[in-house]
This record gives sequence, C-alpha cells and structure tokens, in this order.
Amino acid sequence: MGYMDLDSINKIKLTIENQISNISSIKDLEELRISSFGKKGSFTSLMKGLKEVREDKRKEFGALLNKTKKELEYFLNEKREKLKKEKILKELKKEWIDVTLPIYEETKTNSVGSLHPESLVREELEKIFLRLGFSVVDGPEVESEYYNFEALNVPSSHPARDMQDTFFTNLGSVLRTHTSSIQVRALEKLDPPLRIVAPGRCYRCERLDASHEHTFYQMEGMMVDKVVSVSHLVYFLKTLLREIFGYEVKIRLRPGYFPFVEPGFEIDTWFNGKWLEMLGCGLVHPKVLEYGGIDSGKWQGFAFGIGLSRLTMLRYQIDDIRHLQGGNLKFLKQFS
Ligand code: DAH
Repeated sequence: MGYMDLDSINKIKLTIENQISNISSIKDLEELRISSFGKKGSFTSLMKGLKEVREDKRKEFGALLNKTKKELEYFLNEKREKLKKEKILKELKKEWIDVTLPIYEETKTNSVGSLHPESLVREELEKIFLRLGFSVVDGPEVESEYYNFEALNVPSSHPARDMQDTFFTNLGSVLRTHTSSIQVRALEKLDPPLRIVAPGRCYRCERLDASHEHTFYQMEGMMVDKVVSVSHLVYFLKTLLREIFGYEVKIRLRPGYFPFVEPGFEIDTWFNGKWLEMLGCGLVHPKVLEYGGIDSGKWQGFAFGIGLSRLTMLRYQIDDIRHLQGGNLKFLKQFS
C-alpha cells in the first residue's frame, strides 16, 4: 500500500472492528487475526507502507498505526475470551446430567417420609426433659478411651471394662459403648448446678439376636446440684415413664454395679406381668465429678442411662431389636 492518510487507517480499523463483532467462533476469529495482523495481513501491509510516507508525517502516522493496532488487538482478545466462556457454558449445558434417580412407583404413592421410631421417642423424651429444666447436649460417637472409660472411674486394668464389648479403632479410639461418655464432657463445659440429657447412638461388639444389636440408642441424664438424692432420681424417672406410656408405670430399684455411680441401681419396670430391666442409674461417683473439674465436697449428682432402643420397642411393641436398624421400608412406613 503506497498511499496512506488518516482516512484509510480509520477505514481499515472500522472494517476489522466490524468483522470481529460479527464473528461467532474462535476458529473464525483466529483466521481474522492472521488475515489482519499476520505476515501478509491487511493491517501489517498498511504498516509496511509507513516507510513510503513523507518523512515529516511518518512519526505521526506511525504513532497512530501503533495505537490502532493495540486497540484492535485488545478488542480481538476480549472477543476471544467471550467466545471461550460461551463455549464452556454451551458444553456445560450439553453435558448436564441428571443425578437424581427415578423414585420407585411404590414410594411415589406414599412419598412422604417419616421419622424413625427411635427419633420419635427421643424427641418425646427431649421435650419432657426440656420442660423439667434440662438441656440437651451431645458428644462424639468415635470417642476417646478417656471419656468412655477412664473418666468414668473405669481404669484400663479394671474388670468392669469387660462389661461392655467394645469396638476399638486402630488409632486407639473406641466407638462409644454408652452415652455415659458425655457425662464428663458436659461437666467440663458447664458450671453446676446443671441438668442435662444426652441422647445418642452407641455401639457394642454384640452377638446379634432379637434383643442385642451392635448399634443402638441410649439417653444419658445427669443432674448436679447442692443436694441431690435418690428420691430426686426416682421422681424424674417416674415422670419420664408416666409421660411416655401415659400411665403410672410400676418400678423397682435393685442394687446395680456401675463404677461411675455410688450407690448404683438398676431400675425394672412392670410390663405385661413381668419385670423388665429398663435402665442403670445412681448417684454420681465423687471421682467422676472430680474428673469433670467439679468439687465433690460441694456438689452432688444423679445420673441415669436409659436404653432408647429398648424403650422404643416397648412403646411400639416391637419384638425384635434388629428391625430398628434394618432399614426395611415396610417396617418404617408403619410410623408415618
Ligand atoms: N452406661 C451404662 C450402660 O450402658 C448405663 C448407666 C448406668 C448409665 C448407670 C448411668 C448410670 O448414667 O448412672 O450400661
């Protein structure tokens, strides 16, 4: 191109800009880049013509050409980014997959789920205890030996460790064998006087049968105050049973050995002409209070651990504990 003036530069700028605007694929854009700025490109040859421009004008034109080239390249890159984004979005749209499964016909007709019977009983118990001034607290299922045993006055050499067949992890933790593991955790966190209940899942290495499961639920209860006696304990437990079953349930206290209470009891309830073992309880052992950082000279407490699974079975007349964790829809639907 021998002849150059401001108009011709402007013209080529407009042309290339228009072309960029109208392009809709990265491939076409790349072709335009080559045909404009490549070795034999239209803009390149315009620049080559610079040497034929009159010397007094050359500087001015040179600057303008460079500026124009920069602007066009910027515009081109912007367009490339835009096209890239569009391409990705398009692919995403195309590759979208439906990760939901069609639901079974059987489920569709009765598609409202329901709470598990153990959850129903747990919620009921929580409500009762909240009304009685207790708080609901929680603890981990994978627990340290310390909270599951040691802090409950069960040292590692103690034969009481054999009372509960325990799952150990290879990192030295245990799957908590009872919700009593939450006792010292709660004592550490809360200042007395305190009242807590702690429902949760527990595990034991059991031989399975109609009344033994490796996974089951308990609810721990604990009250610490200046003066706490066995009659407080009996009062709260009787209230609980009355609320759950809707009548005054007959109970019986037997001495029971649990290292974390002194004295300790087992409470049986009278159902269908039989005494049924219902829960373990007692007055919190001073050592346990001390483990929780509480002065056992000033404070006393009671504790109980009730089998939520067992209570659920009694409440709904379930004859085999294995139904509870079995995941059988036919069983579960009865509670909706
Ligand atoms: N943790 C005991 C168990 O699982 C039950 C129990 C007994 C809990 C006495 C207590 C208690 O809080 O005082 O067999």
